[in-house]
Amino acid sequence: MEVKGVETGGFVTEVALYRSQDDLVRPAELIRGGEVVAFPTETVYGLGANALDTNAIDKIFKAKGRPSDNPLIVHVAEKDQIRMLVSDITPLARCLMDAFMPGPITLVMRRNRSVPDVVTAGLDTVGIRIPAHPVARELIAMAGVPIAAPSANRSGSPSPTKAQHVLKDLRGRISYIVDGGDCDVGLESTVVDVTGNRPVILRPGAITSEMILSECKKFGLSFAQVSVDPVSKNGQVPRSPGQKYRHYAPKSPVTVIHSGKEMMSQAYEQTMHSFQQESPGGVMGVFASREVCEALRLSFANVAQGQVIYYEYGSEDDVFSAGQKLYDALRSLDDAGSDRIFAPGFGSEGYGVAYMNRLEKAAGLEKDLDPKLGMLEQGSEDEDCRQVLFVCTGNTCRSPMAEGIFNAILQEMGPFVLCSDPSREVQVFASSAGIFASFGSPAAQNAVDALRQLYGIDISGHRSRRVDEVLLSSTHLILTMTGEHAMFLRAAFPEIADRAYDIFSFFENADIPSDMLRNLVKSPMGIPDPFGASLDEYIKTADTLEHLLSALMPYILDNLGIMPVSFV
Ligand code: TXA
Ligand code: MG
Repeated sequence: MEVKGVETGGFVTEVALYRSQDDLVRPAELIRGGEVVAFPTETVYGLGANALDTNAIDKIFKAKGRPSDNPLIVHVAEKDQIRMLVSDITPLARCLMDAFMPGPITLVMRRNRSVPDVVTAGLDTVGIRIPAHPVARELIAMAGVPIAAPSANRSGSPSPTKAQHVLKDLRGRISYIVDGGDCDVGLESTVVDVTGNRPVILRPGAITSEMILSECKKFGLSFAQVSVDPVSKNGQVPRSPGQKYRHYAPKSPVTVIHSGKEMMSQAYEQTMHSFQQESPGGVMGVFASREVCEALRLSFANVAQGQVIYYEYGSEDDVFSAGQKLYDALRSLDDAGSDRIFAPGFGSEGYGVAYMNRLEKAAGLEKDLDPKLGMLEQGSEDEDCRQVLFVCTGNTCRSPMAEGIFNAILQEMGPFVLCSDPSREVQVFASSAGIFASFGSPAAQNAVDALRQLYGIDISGHRSRRVDEVLLSSTHLILTMTGEHAMFLRAAFPEIADRAYDIFSFFENADIPSDMLRNLVKSPMGIPDPFGASLDEYIKTADTLEHLLSALMPYILDNLGIMPVSFV
């Protein structure tokens, strides 16, 4: 076995190349002895310790710098070891175990008392996974104990898909890394809650909702959809605590390039040109397909050496390669000194859901991604979730302010139930987008300050995005800031014409008494754009929005077919 010693801080970190089973004797002993060991799985590298030893588990949290309210996944080698950790195996759990284990899936089940609280962060459930990677399975079998393991990165950086990534993050903080080469999948496992009779996806991954649905059907379990957990809304405790943290983020900002296949290289080119204008001399890190890289090498042939750095993932449509290479690309482009990273968007279906989930987190767009994801998965027919979308031009002033104010009002009034069936709770939330918006810009500072000052609402985490078909199709009501915005949307996306209004015509339709209208409507043109104006102007805009939205709220709820539970 090849052992490389690296010393910094408290530990000497050994990176040991895996060649045969003999190479696992030492790491298995370390795990049995209460130490932590990093090892490869088919998804990402894990940082493992004996799941039944609380002292060993503490070492994981310490090495990673991970918040202790985020539970760990317990890894076992065989299905019959699951019984020892859980209190019951639901028919749904049985179905997904048979279909997908071993493989890139984690099943959240009700735990029994043998699993220590520190592993589950006090939850009454435990996430169980049987990795398909032969090194991982042999290591678990040889250690003879279940292994609790999060991804082997420092909290906040992208998950490791190579032993070198682990070394970079945890050098000196752990003693042993088993190097089993690159991970095949490259994105973390799908986490599915199987405690009920319907599967709930808590984190999308390589096992897609379509695959889960189809296996359940074969097994005779039928439901219309697989739901995706709309996490962390209204201060609720998220079902998968990990989803609320900003993971996967490189140091450099990430811009997602959305475009059809034909226009992809032009879209990169355009976005990169505007970046050059904003930041002359800035280094551009390009994560793109072979085809796009080829085109860009030609069009950026004249820029100074080293100003564009390329990382190719493979051929254009290959979302699996893009997923497998995403974390390595983010890390390498970051390390090479990129001031901005450009990465491709994929359609949010199948594997694209997991890829976009991680990419949007890296780009800081994760804020309302999870609810949005839920909507995308479930379609607008779904009865459990309602989304209102505010639209303006650049998605940095008016619409993020409207979103923030609306969500705050909702939070005060909620929870909500269906008017047609008051026993069913409904999740409601607002989001926002811009017709000509770029991706990933924060809200204007004056917009942030105005909302903070007036209402104590924090929209500093907002990131801009452009309206597109997928986003629009997942919304139930679209409210624009001006009549022009609404006209544009109806013309460009005829399929949503019947649910897009400018705020004022919605007002008129809502049949609001005219004296009230006169008090509220200051400009018949719509809400004027405060872009570039003083804080005072932003404060006026916020005040108008707050009055309008409060007055409109009953009509909006009515439009959505929901009411506060307090009305029941
Ligand atoms: O692919 C993977 O799952 C990798 C490899 C190493 O197995 N592991 C991994 O672990 O990604 P980690 O800790 O980085 O992410 C685990 C996710 C977190 O979002 C956590 O909140 C969620 O799973 N999770 C774990 N146990 C849970 C539970 N009992 N209920 C809900 N969510 C849980
Ligand atoms: Mg992780």
